[in-house]
Amino acid sequence: MNRQVLLYIWLFSVGSVFGQVSYSIPEEMSRGSLVGNIAHDLGLEIKRLISGKAKIYTRNGDQYIELNRERGVLLVKERIDREALCTETALCALHIQIILENPMEFYTVTVQITDINDNAPTFEKSEMKFKISESASTGAKFDLERAVDLDVGINDLQKYELRPSDNFVLKLHSNTNGRKSVEMVLQKPLDREKQEQVSLILTAVDGGEPQMSGTMQILITVLDANDNAPVFTQQTYKATVTENSPKGTVIATVTASDADQGSNNKITYSITNTLDNVRKLFHINEEKGEVSLTESIDFEMSRNFQINLRATDDGGLTDSCKLIVDVLDVNDNKPEINIMSKSTVISEDAKVSTVVTMINTEDLDSGDNGNVKCFISENVPFILKSSTSNFYSLVTDSDLDRERASEYNITVTCSDEGVPSLSSSVILTLQISDVNDNAPVFERTSYEAYIVENNTPGLSIFTVKATDTDWNQNARVSYILEDSSINGVPVSSYVSVSADSGIISAMCTFDYEQIKDFQFHVKAQDGGSPPLSSNVTVKIMILDQNDNPPQVLYPVQTGGSLVAEMVPRSADVGYLVTKVVAVDVDSGQNAWLSYKLQKATNRAMFEVGLQNGEIRTIRQVTDKDAVKQRLTVIVEDNGQPSRSATVIVNVAVADSFPEVLTEFTDYTHDKEYNDNLTFYLVLALAVVSFLFITCLVVIISVKIYRWRQSRILYHSNLPVIPYYPPRYSDTLGTGTLPHVYNYEVCRTTDSRKSDCKFGRAFSPNVLIMDPSSTGTMQRIQSEKSILDEPDSPLEVRS
Ligand SMILES: *[C@@H]1O[C@H](CO)[C@@H](O)[C@H](O)[C@H]1NC(C)=O
Ligand SMILES: *[C@@H]1O[C@H](CO)[C@@H](O)[C@H](O)[C@H]1NC(C)=O
Repeated sequence: MNRQVLLYIWLFSVGSVFGQVSYSIPEEMSRGSLVGNIAHDLGLEIKRLISGKAKIYTRNGDQYIELNRERGVLLVKERIDREALCTETALCALHIQIILENPMEFYTVTVQITDINDNAPTFEKSEMKFKISESASTGAKFDLERAVDLDVGINDLQKYELRPSDNFVLKLHSNTNGRKSVEMVLQKPLDREKQEQVSLILTAVDGGEPQMSGTMQILITVLDANDNAPVFTQQTYKATVTENSPKGTVIATVTASDADQGSNNKITYSITNTLDNVRKLFHINEEKGEVSLTESIDFEMSRNFQINLRATDDGGLTDSCKLIVDVLDVNDNKPEINIMSKSTVISEDAKVSTVVTMINTEDLDSGDNGNVKCFISENVPFILKSSTSNFYSLVTDSDLDRERASEYNITVTCSDEGVPSLSSSVILTLQISDVNDNAPVFERTSYEAYIVENNTPGLSIFTVKATDTDWNQNARVSYILEDSSINGVPVSSYVSVSADSGIISAMCTFDYEQIKDFQFHVKAQDGGSPPLSSNVTVKIMILDQNDNPPQVLYPVQTGGSLVAEMVPRSADVGYLVTKVVAVDVDSGQNAWLSYKLQKATNRAMFEVGLQNGEIRTIRQVTDKDAVKQRLTVIVEDNGQPSRSATVIVNVAVADSFPEVLTEFTDYTHDKEYNDNLTFYLVLALAVVSFLFITCLVVIISVKIYRWRQSRILYHSNLPVIPYYPPRYSDTLGTGTLPHVYNYEVCRTTDSRKSDCKFGRAFSPNVLIMDPSSTGTMQRIQSEKSILDEPDSPLEVRS
């Protein structure tokens, strides 16, 4: 309807123009749509159109419009696109001629094509990409592509819109050609760290009805700028490391982050300590931030470290943090034992609780690893006392005895309480010094020894021995003969003891018949101060030797007198004539006597009892038998060798005493002989006495002369001053002489007699001083009075 109205308005305006008609149609009408009733508008009849073969002529041959002759109308033959036909021009028209033949006529028809909004604004590209640094400042401009709308007029592009509009605004510029260029302006800075990709939609809108629009995406990549410093995840890190960890052990990892990108994000870690030795001990991996050890750490040197760390990005921005490293102790130090004071020798009489050694311990470790306990080897008489921690004193715990143990090796072991525990030990060697606390002890509680009589003086009898468990001088034993007397004679006259060797020697020749045994004490004394001693009883028993012949007690043998046993002639066989009685002072076998008839006037007449010495007749006495019978009886002992004595027994075989007397007169010759003998003896005695007195006078004269010469030198009245060679020393002052020197003084003159003489010792080592020797002589006499027996007149040596 609108078109029709328009047509009419136009018809009335151009109807007066001959041969020319205008129509106006919108573009994009469908085929066959009516453009205009040309027959009516030109005033032509349908017949004329048909006869005139009316046809449309266009200069360029366009066939948009066709002529329907039968109806006399113009129809749309092809879709008409105004934008294709006229591009941008606002007025667009098709100029066609309708040509008729017979007669030839032509009419100009102008078909005005009006625009409809059939084109949206379009962008050449659907998107635009920008790369904008986040550091771009506000006001920066970015050209955008324009949109194009083929429509014209109101249907053409009217405006742009940009969404979202946080960072950018649009700005339009009119160009000389009338077109408008569009740009976006940064009004708020970008932040890559917030939004790395910004996507905007630019919309171009036309003014048609309905409105049409076109869009384009604007993609903005925000480029990084180093606007962020690295940041550590913690301001302070903590780590622990056990000491002695191997090199390279990673103890902590620190991390810093940088919000930037790329090289601005590349963080380098470093250690910044300057003053301490941290840089020597620790290493940080530049890229990974791993802190590791370059050397093993000793807890005893430092217990913690503060490592200052820095993170730097490529742009030079930094952050710093601290790493506190605590070192954990490992029990790697043995306890140390220091001897503060020490005695190497202690006396065995030291009191209990005497301090021997003081010890101090030290352990560099801490905690339980540094708690030290000490103890000592067992079975020693010492204990370890702890006064204050780490100080110990080794004290005696019980009495010491050098004789039991003269040396102790005391092992002191100290260990800490770490796991595993470490320990060290030290050996203290302690010597126990001797105290004279042990007396010498004899090997036996008493000694008995035997010596055969008639020994040589100086003979060693046996040895006593005592031992002393002390040491050195305290154990040096000397033997001393204890003073005592035996039957009034000092024991030192009998025996002597060698001080050094304990050898007991006889000082004289013993006679069993005088003394059978005796005992004395020997003292053993050590060299300590004060000395200790003990004594032992020694019993010496003298063994008998057959040194005495039998002695005949009956019949008594007198010098001149005659004794005879009477045997009556009537005596029976077995008549006991007499009995020979003999004794032997020896003992045992040596005193076991037997009797034998050695010689007889009439052997067949008498016999002697072998055991009892009884003389009996063995046959009847006859008249032929002489009155005077003389028997010789031999008495023998049983010793080895045996000794014997003989006795003459006179027997008178007679019935009356006168008979006997006559028979024995021939004995008067014997009496005369005896008288003569007495005379000679007296004469000899007188001569000897005279000679003796003469000699005595001479000797005394000589001695007095010498004594006067020597009295200036000697005033002492001691009988004997012994002179000892220089090597002699009487160390103990006891008077006991060493063995070598002490027996020369004992001599004997007669083995049969007894025997201890205390005379002059004719040793070159002895000086005789007193010419009278009175003291010595007296002693000899007293010895003789004790020991000598009166000689028997009947004694006969075998
Ligand atoms: C103590 O030790 C020393 C040296 O090792 C050794 O000669 C000695 O016999 C030891 N003493 C004791 C009583 O064990
Ligand atoms: C011998 O020693 C004992 C003690 O052992 C003492 O009683 C005695 O008197 C001592 N004898 C002599 C003669 O020293």
